[in-house]
Amino acid sequence: MSGFQSPRGLRDLLEPLASAHGWATDRAWAAADAAGYARIELPIAEESALFERAVGGTSDIVAKELYRLEPRGDDAVTLALRPEATAGAVRAYIQHGMRSQPQPVRLATVAQLFRYDRPQKGRYRQFTQFDIEAIGDGGPGIDLEVIAIGAAYLRELGLTDVQVHLNSVGCTACRPAYVETLRAHFTPVSQELSEVDQSRLTTNPLRLLDSNETAAVKRAATAPAITDHLCADCAAHHAAVVSGLATIGVTVVAAPRVVRGLDYYTRTAWEYLLPGEQGQQGALGGGGRYDGLVELLGGTPTPAIGFAIGIDRVVLALEARGLLPAAAAGPAIVVAGIEAESLANRVAIAAELRAAGASARADVSTRKIGKQLEGAVRDGALAVIIVEPDGRLTLRDLVKASQAEPAERGGVIAAALRLVQNEG
Ligand code: HAM
Repeated sequence: MSGFQSPRGLRDLLEPLASAHGWATDRAWAAADAAGYARIELPIAEESALFERAVGGTSDIVAKELYRLEPRGDDAVTLALRPEATAGAVRAYIQHGMRSQPQPVRLATVAQLFRYDRPQKGRYRQFTQFDIEAIGDGGPGIDLEVIAIGAAYLRELGLTDVQVHLNSVGCTACRPAYVETLRAHFTPVSQELSEVDQSRLTTNPLRLLDSNETAAVKRAATAPAITDHLCADCAAHHAAVVSGLATIGVTVVAAPRVVRGLDYYTRTAWEYLLPGEQGQQGALGGGGRYDGLVELLGGTPTPAIGFAIGIDRVVLALEARGLLPAAAAGPAIVVAGIEAESLANRVAIAAELRAAGASARADVSTRKIGKQLEGAVRDGALAVIIVEPDGRLTLRDLVKASQAEPAERGGVIAAALRLVQNEG
């Protein structure tokens, strides 16, 4: 065995998790396609300045968790592995002139992301998000659409108890005054706060609301709610989102402490939470409006909204509830034989079966036929075709435990295909 291990926080996904991951990913693309969100594949690295500006220099994601790449050769820019997809999607929106398309532009992606975080269950250094973004519409209708797509995706995977925890984080007109109110609320207990929270009190008091530290959690319980401090426009927008979600049957929990860890949010902010999960594991996804981001990245002022759902956490939740889909099935037909001379023929017959739409593999050993049959049973195969020394084939039905007489190739292959069609 080599001494190498996968790097900390970067996992191998084995079955049945690999299939579950693929299944949740396929369902994500299907949900996006069905709702008219255009697929977009973004590069896995961008200029690190993009994330610094978009997500915010003081956010944990940029300040502590960004994987920066050394500039190489003539390339003077520092790239970073993407820690999220929104900044790249907005960069692409501006770069490709999507403003000239009908608005909003609806985009979806499934992206592998990297954050140098402390690894624990549900928190990895490489993870995957289902991300959708609707860029170019400021009205509450698109908020309803986006929030509902994420909730329906999770419900349809079987996570029927998912809750939408909804808040508004206001805008540049009303948030500064609220932040000062919040600072005044926490200042009397500043000495009790952790070092990190003390610096948040100076740089970004909003983040004190979602701190996990005991002193901050205790003080946050009596903090004024931002939804009581919104300007008239933000309040009207929030009220329309709340009543709209009630109308379309999405159950919402009012969550005045959901402020999100990225700096670009304005107005609507929410999380998809599973009650009863440990720590962060129940935080399946989150999203919000980011009405200032297109302009911040050099585009024309354009409102936008989106969410990201963590596929890794979705799979963990499915596993915890016994809802993992079955791992990919083994081959339905195994082509066996004991002579070395029949190896090429076995491989060819398996390929012919696959070309005809069945799943099949050859046994490429020269083990005793009994061992090869055992291997086929272990794979869950329905039938075995045995290549006889004279080149004829024998079909064995593993479900009925019956075996036909050796016969000519074409007839046996056709019979095997019929068998798996009837029994599969
Ligand atoms: P976020 O809240 O940072 O938002 O991440 C969204 C989801 O990604 C989390 O709820 C979680 O399920 C998953 N996630 C985050 N970090 C990790 C990790 N280290 N390991 C496993 N899963 C993780 C965003 O990224 C925003 N870009 C969402 C958004 C899109 N807002 C607007 N548009």
